[in-house]
Amino acid sequence: MWFRYSDEHPWVLPGVDLTIPAGGTVALVGLNGSGKSTLVKLLCRLYDPTRGTITWDGLDLREADPAALRSRLGAVFQDFMAYDLSAADNIALGDLRARDDPDRIEAAAARAGVGGTLRGLPRGYRTLLTREFYGEGDDDGVVLSGGQWQRIAIARGFLRTEADLMILDEPSSGLDPEAEHEIHAALRTARRGRTNLLISHRLSTVRDSDVIAVFDRGRIAERGDHAALLAAGGRYAALFRLQARGYADPAEAAAVPR
Ligand SMILES: Nc1ncnc2c1ncn2[C@@H]1O[C@H](COP(=O)(O)OP(=O)(O)O)[C@@H](O)[C@H]1O
Ligand SMILES: [Mg+2]
Repeated sequence: MWFRYSDEHPWVLPGVDLTIPAGGTVALVGLNGSGKSTLVKLLCRLYDPTRGTITWDGLDLREADPAALRSRLGAVFQDFMAYDLSAADNIALGDLRARDDPDRIEAAAARAGVGGTLRGLPRGYRTLLTREFYGEGDDDGVVLSGGQWQRIAIARGFLRTEADLMILDEPSSGLDPEAEHEIHAALRTARRGRTNLLISHRLSTVRDSDVIAVFDRGRIAERGDHAALLAAGGRYAALFRLQARGYADPAEAAAVPR
């Protein structure tokens, strides 16, 4: 499958061939700009491939019913904020049926570690979340931190536990390492028994995936499980060793002279 954003743009994905086996977890890793999020957008049908096809159980995504596709997909995206909605509605974006079910919303928030924060807001889950403070009045919104927004995005994902394919694109990128570890432990439980596509810049969070695909400029440079990739001694092994020595970010690691 090939993809570029338009004829004027360069190829972002010049020939990607990837299978996501049912019931397994596939991880995508690679430098910023290597095309991982673009592949996610194609899976969600925000775009279609420029050449080639993406199939789900043999069915071309272009022929799939968009509503059915959306109901089978759960996604936590890298861009995770939604302002000017109540805290509850921000979570309900994950599954609008939950709007009528506060218990489900609160359970999802609790699992994502943001339940206490939201309960403690001036109007609890009905508090409006906004970009800025406007004043001190009753109806004014509340501004959350990046990490709290990230947890709301994860709570949205937890509402979609019945989705056949769960996509997590850098689900913990706004969090400190400890919170990141905690979120990934919760996500690992949620992932069990489902099909997952996990994107993370922190390799320690993908090491138990069934298949890890290393993206390099829109192509898959290496693939295998953690042990096989370490044994192969290629890019993944080099990045993993660098991160194990304390580099949190592959971009940082790539800047280190070999
Ligand atoms: N909407 C867009 N229009 C044009 N180019 C884009 C768009 N979104 C992303 N790109 C480009 O596509 C490439 C891959 O980006 P992305 O898929 O976000 O990579 P990653 O998620 O691996 O960091 C980058 O060069 C980026 O600038
Ligand atoms: Mg990305």
